[in-house]
Amino acid sequence: MPSEYPYLIDQYQRMHTSLRVSVTDACNIRCRYCMPEKVHGFLPRDRLLDFESIARVVSVLGRAGIEKVRLTGGEPLMRPDLPRLVGMLSRIVSIRQLAMTTNGMMLAESIDALVASGLTHVNISLDTLREKGFQQISRRDGLEQVLSGIAAAVRSPLQVRLNALVLRGINLEDVIPLVRFAREQGVVIRFIEFMPLDADRAWSESQVVSGEELRGIVEQEFGELRPVVSADLSQPSRDFQFPDGKGGIGFIDPVSQPFCRDCNRLRLTADGKFRNCLFGRQEWDVRGPVMRGASDAEIHRIAMDCVHAKFASHGISDRGFSPPERAMYQIGG
Ligand code: 5AD
Ligand code: SF4
Repeated sequence: MPSEYPYLIDQYQRMHTSLRVSVTDACNIRCRYCMPEKVHGFLPRDRLLDFESIARVVSVLGRAGIEKVRLTGGEPLMRPDLPRLVGMLSRIVSIRQLAMTTNGMMLAESIDALVASGLTHVNISLDTLREKGFQQISRRDGLEQVLSGIAAAVRSPLQVRLNALVLRGINLEDVIPLVRFAREQGVVIRFIEFMPLDADRAWSESQVVSGEELRGIVEQEFGELRPVVSADLSQPSRDFQFPDGKGGIGFIDPVSQPFCRDCNRLRLTADGKFRNCLFGRQEWDVRGPVMRGASDAEIHRIAMDCVHAKFASHGISDRGFSPPERAMYQIGG
């Protein structure tokens, strides 16, 4: 079916079909790969894009080829009444997949409402199964809450995945227990390489554990992994099966094996700015125009301008690379 508005195709012929919507920069924990230890104020409510405006933007972009929406943060469940937004987005016909990335701490109590509102997928962050490790990474208590969130998600009809981030010197020892846990739960676990998006700017290549190294560690314990061929090229994860067919595992390697060439993602920050890349230096404000009564065509034009300006790749390994001004929690993971 032809779309009502031109597709969001950039200069490198990448078609954008996926929108990541950050709904808040606030979070109840402080993961060191994302947030600073002390936050000097989250965005005030009156600077956030309201639900009606988010739904409006999604509906316009849905008419330009966007078919997948992922809610992120910060922690998306920190935004009061999130299931209401999920309900609004699930009624937009072009959106076929409605996903959320969460730290899981507040998931158990909201899962029923999220399912009823039309959420289809949930990714839950889990980097360790040790309370001490959790405290070291997130600078807060809460592993028990995360585990009950995971349990609730696994019991629900949602498609569930675990996201793990391994930092050398902090949680490398957790890899095998995490994989074992995911297999027991019957869910896929994905390991994501540490990117230079931490608020502390403490990132160094030496802390990055590559997907390749992780795969070696996993194969020593579980035997040779068999690649799963994905129909979706823009899907950044390289997925594998275990020899016994139980569970599944994937590696997202933005640092060691950039996948920018097939990127189909556009981002909307909690304060209503389009971004074409996590590492981009430019943002395109859509909140201002929407508040001033912009037409659907104008909203589409702003998204198109953003997509047209997208670079070929993020350049993390280039000389002279410097991380973006905003950290992960301010952009949306
Ligand atoms: N590098 C890679 N992934 C990150 N995330 C947060 N910060 C970073 C970073 N610096 C991802 C984690 C987390 C999700 C919410 O965002 O995978 O699970
Ligand atoms: Fe919060 Fe997610 Fe950032 Fe951790 S990674 S501090 S859970 S927003």
